[in-house]
Amino acid sequence: MLERREFIKLLLQGIAAGNLLSFVTPRIKPALAAGEVQRTPVLMIETGSCTGDSVSLWHSWNPDFRYIISNVLEWRFDTTLMQSGGSKAFDLLMDTYEKDAYRYILIVQGSMVQRDNGNYNFIAYQEKESKYLNGLELVKLLAARAKYIVAIGTCATHGGPPSGYPNPSQSVGVQKILRDRKIINVTGCPAHADWTMGTLLHLALYGEPELDSFNRPKMFYGETIHDRCERRRFYDQGIFAVDVGQKECLYRVGCKGPVTFADCPVRFWHDRKNWPVSCNSPCIGCTEPSFPDTMSPFTASLPDIPFPGGTKVSTEVVGLSIFGASALAIIGHGVASLYNGRLQRNVLQSTTKGPHRYPVKKASAFHQYTLKSYTPGKNSSNKSAQPPN
Ligand code: SF4
Ligand code: F3S
Repeated sequence: MLERREFIKLLLQGIAAGNLLSFVTPRIKPALAAGEVQRTPVLMIETGSCTGDSVSLWHSWNPDFRYIISNVLEWRFDTTLMQSGGSKAFDLLMDTYEKDAYRYILIVQGSMVQRDNGNYNFIAYQEKESKYLNGLELVKLLAARAKYIVAIGTCATHGGPPSGYPNPSQSVGVQKILRDRKIINVTGCPAHADWTMGTLLHLALYGEPELDSFNRPKMFYGETIHDRCERRRFYDQGIFAVDVGQKECLYRVGCKGPVTFADCPVRFWHDRKNWPVSCNSPCIGCTEPSFPDTMSPFTASLPDIPFPGGTKVSTEVVGLSIFGASALAIIGHGVASLYNGRLQRNVLQSTTKGPHRYPVKKASAFHQYTLKSYTPGKNSSNKSAQPPN
C-alpha cells in the first residue's frame, strides 16, 4: 500500500505536472486489487449553495476520477448528480445511515440556513412520515452516524456569501450547528477539485490529515497565496498595478493574497490552465473564514499588513515607515530589495503626490475590522461589523 508520505509527495507532484488523481490512481490500484483497501461510502448533501463546489469537482471528471469514486470511495448519494430523486433517493440515504453507520463520510456543500428554523431550505422528503426535511435537520441526522464530516466550499465551512452582511437567511457554517463534532473544512469559493478529492482520499486511506487552526488540511492550505505568487518580485520592489488587469503586483487594487492561505499559485485552476492573479485579477481571499465580508470591496487594498507577532501597520504608511525596524519585520522577504533601494524608491513614489501617485482605494469603515478580530460565523451579528450610517 502507498505510504502516506509518498501520497503527499504525489500530491505535490500533481501540482507541478498535472491532475492529482492521475498520479495517485496507478499507485493505489495494486492495493485495491489485493483487497487491502475497503471502500468508504460517501454521502454528499447540498444545502444553501450555488452548486459551485460540484461544478469545480466535475472539472476533474476523468477516468481516474470515476475510478476513485467507485473503487476507493463509494459515491452513494449526491443531491446534484443523482438521477433518482424523491423517496427513492431518500431511502438510499437512510440505507447507508442504517447499514453503514460510523463508516461513511458525510460531505456538506452549502451554508446552514437557520432563519425560521431552516425552513427556507427544504432538501429532502421523507415519504413514510410525509415530512419535508430541511438542511439543518438532514445534516444533523446524518452527522450523528458519520465517521468523518467534511464541509466543502466556504459556504459550508464558514457561511460564505450567503452569510454576508446583512445575512437575511441567517446562514452559518456547518461547524456552528455541530459543535460537538470535528468538521474538516475544505474552504474555497468554490473548493478546488484537488482539495476535495485529496482530502477524501486521505481520509479513506490514512485517516484524518494534519489540519490548521481552522481545521483545513495543511497539505493544501499551509502557505499564503502571497508566499508563492508569481508577482512577488513586484511586491518586494514596491511595483504595484494601478488597475485590475495590469501585470504588476495587484496588492493596491485589492489583492488579499498576503492574508489568504491556499496553493492556487502552484496548483492552478481550470485543468491547470490559470489562476486569478495570473489572469490579472486580485485574489479575493475566498478560502478565508472571513470571506466575503472582510475581503470586500474586492478592489479595496487591505486595511492593514499583519506583522509576525500580531501587530498591524496601515499599508498607507508602509512607504513612510520603510526605514524603520517594523518595516523590516513586515517585509523580511524584501530586505534584499531594501538594500538596493528599489523597494523604498517605488513605495515612496506610490505614497507621495506626483504623476506616479497610485490611487489607493481606502476600505470603508465597515471593512476596518481586521481578520484577527473576526469570529467565524459571527460576522453578520458582530456589532463591529455594522456598516456606518
Ligand atoms: Fe502578493 Fe497579490 Fe501581489 Fe501576488 S499579486 S505578490 S499575492 S499582493
Ligand atoms: Fe480564491 Fe484567492 Fe485562490 S480568490 S481561488 S484563494 S487565488
